Amino acid sequence: MARNNLFVVLIFLGILANGLGPFGVNGLSLTYYLFTCPLVESIVKVNVDKILRIDPGLAGPLVRMHFHDCFVEGCDGSVLIDSTPGNKAEKDAESNLSLRGFEVIDEIKAEVEKRCPGIVSCADILALVAKDVVLFSGGPMFFVPKGRKDGRRSKAADALVKLPPFTSNASQLIDFVGKLGLTAQDLVALSGAHTLGAARCSSFKHRLKNFNATHDIDPSIDPEFLKVLNKTCAAGDTAEQPFDGSIIQFNNEYFQALQKNKGVLFSDQTLATNPKTKELVDTYANNRAVFFLDFQRAMIKMGIMNVKEGSNGEVRKTCRKIN
Ligand code: HEM
Repeated sequence: MARNNLFVVLIFLGILANGLGPFGVNGLSLTYYLFTCPLVESIVKVNVDKILRIDPGLAGPLVRMHFHDCFVEGCDGSVLIDSTPGNKAEKDAESNLSLRGFEVIDEIKAEVEKRCPGIVSCADILALVAKDVVLFSGGPMFFVPKGRKDGRRSKAADALVKLPPFTSNASQLIDFVGKLGLTAQDLVALSGAHTLGAARCSSFKHRLKNFNATHDIDPSIDPEFLKVLNKTCAAGDTAEQPFDGSIIQFNNEYFQALQKNKGVLFSDQTLATNPKTKELVDTYANNRAVFFLDFQRAMIKMGIMNVKEGSNGEVRKTCRKIN
């Protein structure tokens, strides 16, 4: 009994530490499915763990999918919709072509539908998956407010303008995310998701040749690391370069790589020099706990951006098409 009480207190403290009141934020709630689908969180977690044990390399793609969902039309599962003859959907936009793991979301949605048909939105499943992936990979635990509805619009043209380009510098990124209500601190913390996964050569080859009017090669790249990037690109545009020492471990090594001028993306490397972001990069590189705390807060903040509620959206039967 005493152990149970301690457990409840710990959960409550965890909720407060995440900056949430017990009833949630933005109309969403931590207990949204308490009476309608009480097991949803465990169904998602069990399946994420199972899938990542088989293919840990899906960790990066699945977290990235949640980000690409939230930045375009809010976190409403719009990235999951398939194109139709009359509509080129978000997932077929250039910036989304390297997204992977859609079948994982289908699989988990199907498991959830077996227990609670028509109750849990694809947008909520995506947010829960991202949370479980982070935890599975060694990152922080956080609580996801739920109650997002799925959107009915998914247009490739939206994704083209609403996802930040990898050629942006830190101040352009700060402006970009600022329009969505995110701060420079959120930006740096969220960029820490690049501790997972890899970038394709096509996302950084612009740094290696014809970089700008004064430099053929991006001068911020460490000379030894330049050789590594060139070697990766020698294998072709789709060859992958991990952001740090491991594509599957969630830690603060990505920030340590930036300090050593070993950032893979131009956009990432500029975070280590811009006066508004440099200090944060150093803090996160030196202190994993601070990074974890800021990351979990920023993920919750990103996860509730422009969410659709009530009749503004729907609960899709399958994540790939509007009901
Ligand atoms: C804000 C500016 C950001 C930019 C410019 C950016 C850009 C990119 C680019 C260019 C790639 C490589 C894509 C490829 O080559 O296929 C990538 C990968 C990735 N991004 Fe970001 N990103 C940003 C923010 C974020 C955020 C906020 C998250 C999640 C919270 C995130 C998570 C990831 C992950 C996990 C990968 C690896 C995916 C994989 O392994 O397939 N990124 N990002």
